[in-house]
Amino acid sequence: MALLRSVVVGCGAYLPETIVTNAALAERGIETSDEWIVQRTGIRQRHIAGPDETTSVLGTKAAQAALDEAGLSPADIDLVICATSTPDHTFPSTATQIQAALGIEGGFAFDLQAVCAGFVYAVATADRFLSTGGAKRALVIGAETFSRIVDWEDRTTCVLFGDGAGAIVLEARENDASDRGVLTSCLRSDGRHRSKLYVDGGPGSTGTTGKLRMEGREVFRFAVGSVTDVIEEAFRTSGTTADDLTWFVPHQANRRIIEASADKLGIAREKVVLTVDRHGNTSAASIPLALAAARSDGRIKEGDLVMIEAIGGGFTWGAALIRW
Ligand code: UT7
Repeated sequence: MALLRSVVVGCGAYLPETIVTNAALAERGIETSDEWIVQRTGIRQRHIAGPDETTSVLGTKAAQAALDEAGLSPADIDLVICATSTPDHTFPSTATQIQAALGIEGGFAFDLQAVCAGFVYAVATADRFLSTGGAKRALVIGAETFSRIVDWEDRTTCVLFGDGAGAIVLEARENDASDRGVLTSCLRSDGRHRSKLYVDGGPGSTGTTGKLRMEGREVFRFAVGSVTDVIEEAFRTSGTTADDLTWFVPHQANRRIIEASADKLGIAREKVVLTVDRHGNTSAASIPLALAAARSDGRIKEGDLVMIEAIGGGFTWGAALIRW
């Protein structure tokens, strides 16, 4: 039997209309400045969801945009994975709410929680279903409303995050000479780092949602120092090198982390897709948002070799190499 590959056939995104600039945060009484935020993170603005814009609302719009690009209808989808740490409710899953909102009646849907690494985990998971015949077409979504779980009194974290959603459609296709599809993925986690990035509540502990807490400097150190292992492994297992990459689309947390990682891996700066300036850190949504931005402005084209990579709370981290 021919090898099945998970091929990207559509990509889309949705950002809430409300844009909040760094200056607007300072005007709201947060003891910060545009200069500090830009210099330390590269962030200039972020989108913030309105009261009725839940994670499933954002995710549904991004998923619809991805289906539109693919020229598919919801009935063509038999797997929905939503990577999120800000679900509408503890249960049912946000993925099932998106499934219902799109009018999908068959297949199966579930959430995947690996914080900022969620989208990479979701791509790797969908790929396993598609490449083994467990599903035919998957919507892989990253959707977040981190504005609801940041502590707006804590300037060390609240200035960093934003809301949004992005999605891709993956289709199981027999591998051919085009070599398109998810070529490899590599996932890691190490729960000993829990205290460096976590939410101080939850349904099974406090019975509350809780707020995000982060030791920024520690996360920064780990992100730059350790997570390149998964990218190096993805290069090794696929027999590719940094020179072969067309685009590097990392999780968008901090411009300094992204550029330091690219430099360390020998990835040329012009291959790096950056959206952190416009979106801030949208956790699991940041990679599909960046993919959609680079797709819609004509940078990512069919046949391009694209590396996605992220690190999130846990810690969790991972990379996937995709021939678009
Ligand atoms: O998506 C999950 C992964 N998360 C990340 O990747 C985040 C990783 N960490 C980072 O991006 C950076 O560590 C931060 C952007 C969070 C912080 O940058 P930093 O260069 O590590 O700054 P710092 O925490 O060492 O703080 C430097 C100073 C401190 O003042 P003192 O102690 O030197 O007087 C902070 O109190 O900056 C101060 N500061 C601020 N000043 C103005 C902290 N937050 C702010 C702020 N505005 N918003």
